[in-house]
Amino acid sequence: MQFDLVIRGGKIATASDVFEADVGIKDGIITALARDLQNAADVIDATGKLVLPGGIESHCHIAQESATGAMTSDDYYSGSVSAAFGGNSTIIPFAAQHRGQSVRDVMRIYDDRAAPNSVLDYSYHLIISDPTDKVIKEELPEAFAAGITSFKVFMTYDKLIVSDEQMLDILVTAREYGALTMVHAENNAMIKWMVGRLVDKGHTQARYHAVSHPEAAEVEAINRGISLASFVDAPLLIVHVSTDAGARRVAEARLNGQKIFGETCPQYLFLEASDLDRPDPEGTKFCCSPPLRNTETQKALWRHLQAGTFHLYSSDHAPYRFDETGKLSSGPNPPFNKVANGMPGIEMRAPLLFSEGVLKGRISLSTFVALTSTNAARLFGIHPKKGTIAIGSDADIAIWDPDETRVVTAQGMHDNMDYTPFEGWQVTGWPVTVLSRGKYVVHDGELKAKAGQGQFLKRAPFDTTGYTTELAGELNPASNFGAQIL
Ligand code: URP
Ligand code: ZN
Ligand code: ZN
Repeated sequence: MQFDLVIRGGKIATASDVFEADVGIKDGIITALARDLQNAADVIDATGKLVLPGGIESHCHIAQESATGAMTSDDYYSGSVSAAFGGNSTIIPFAAQHRGQSVRDVMRIYDDRAAPNSVLDYSYHLIISDPTDKVIKEELPEAFAAGITSFKVFMTYDKLIVSDEQMLDILVTAREYGALTMVHAENNAMIKWMVGRLVDKGHTQARYHAVSHPEAAEVEAINRGISLASFVDAPLLIVHVSTDAGARRVAEARLNGQKIFGETCPQYLFLEASDLDRPDPEGTKFCCSPPLRNTETQKALWRHLQAGTFHLYSSDHAPYRFDETGKLSSGPNPPFNKVANGMPGIEMRAPLLFSEGVLKGRISLSTFVALTSTNAARLFGIHPKKGTIAIGSDADIAIWDPDETRVVTAQGMHDNMDYTPFEGWQVTGWPVTVLSRGKYVVHDGELKAKAGQGQFLKRAPFDTTGYTTELAGELNPASNFGAQIL
């Protein structure tokens, strides 16, 4: 067979296996995995390198207005380029419905933002903040039919929060169509109550951001989210879990057969609340929600990662520059409650986990692949097209040099940011080549892709195979009311 490209001599890792083979690529698809493949128009020598499925970054905020209206600093060009330099070949950011907006308009707006700009294949999760009858009955089904098979809700932020009742409407609709609901789980009232008291007493420095988002607020909301989802037998993904107790609830729910999944992020594994202690306004760089926690919690989250509690490890890249367009938009030394929440990290997500997780023996290479790529492909309906190295899959591949050591700097990143929370970190292992459908995106330290090269991914429904179906008794169609209520 004549190949367009052969990757020769590397060590391939998937979520289940590590083996040595060449990869033969034809028309953007992996068509052969074997030793000594010949007849290639182009060859990459991967001797001494790792050949991994391209990362799938499934939690990132790109060209998105926040709850307060602040626009992220990255658009689909800079965001996807930065993702590619960090070893990713697919991104799934959010398309956010703000109150009063129709979902149809939101989808059009995000198509316009993404299609001409993304260098990587992409989809969106739809954020629902205004679940009117029309949204629930017409627009979510339409979005689903267009291949957007995940919806996100917020249990906090005054401008995005949905009530429990609204969340049930969304969960039931998602269940009916086969979509996966994602949730930012923090108790809004507990946070507002804490913020009010702290600010009243003049505690406005960045370090009080962590105090104002207590662990109990996350645990309460996770409990409630799981209860609501399980009541109507809908799958639910709790994003950016930052507490041991919250993670335990996720693990326990799955043990009970419930379709509950968890995600954690680099900031909760690598940074701590003490990072907020830097003299103001420096500490604002580390304000994100949920906030950074303490050393004990960080250790517990690593154990959850090792024990399989989390299906996903995502950046939650929410880039706001350290200037008047971003973190300092409320003044040069803003109180913590007026600081845009979020930090950048799309490029450092996978390298940090490789260096600190794989090379330090905390997780296996296959677990790394699962957490950075395969599990996202499965949960979000793009597997096995994406997320693995197999015959028939898209040739979305990241070639890693496991020995390359780099010191992280903001200038070295390819996002549109002026800081990185990981400044000065030394990491070993770096993605040196990234292919998307067999085409070079990053190679020899250079960008090879053009804006708009990425394609929209029409995603499949959430796959419930392997989970029990158990509606609350009152909703069971066999009961007196169940059929009428659902
Ligand atoms: O602080 C964060 N994570 N900001 C981004 C929006 C969100 O809550 O995910
Ligand atoms: Zn969130
Ligand atoms: Zn987020």
